[in-house]
Amino acid sequence: MKRFVIFCTGAFIAGLSFSLLSAADEKPKMTIKEVMKNHKDKLNEKFEKGEATKEEKAKLLEGYEALAKNKPPKGDEKDWKAKTDALVKAVKDDDKAAYKKAVNCAACHKDHKPA
Ligand code: HEC
Repeated sequence: MKRFVIFCTGAFIAGLSFSLLSAADEKPKMTIKEVMKNHKDKLNEKFEKGEATKEEKAKLLEGYEALAKNKPPKGDEKDWKAKTDALVKAVKDDDKAAYKKAVNCAACHKDHKPA
């Protein structure tokens, strides 16, 4: 019986670390360039003006969540995480002022967009 318990604990831990690992390894749904299409489509401007529909907000949120999972092609990963998390949070909270600050194209491109 004791052996069985040890075996089960081991299997549980192995399963748990496996699921943790695969969560961290989860592939982003979109590439950075794909997410930038939302900006080309002016969804960001609509959001700032409060004109984005529910679907458009969902699209922005999905995009920024994918953005946060991507690795930046350039620059510091911690800074990237802070910038992308701020975008996710602003859209989630429907906070236009926070979004305006977070979606600063030039600031992010300067740090993270390869020339
Ligand atoms: C959180 C960071 C971040 C913000 C904010 C951001 N971008 Fe980007 N953008 C990037 C990165 C990184 C790339 C480079 C992607 C690559 O080369 O893989 C990029 C690339 C682009 C591209 C080129 C895409 C392509 O197909 O080559 C366009 C256009 C673009 N951004 C538009 C915008 C606009 C407009 C805004 C502001 C409304 C904006 N971006 C805000 C990070 C950001």
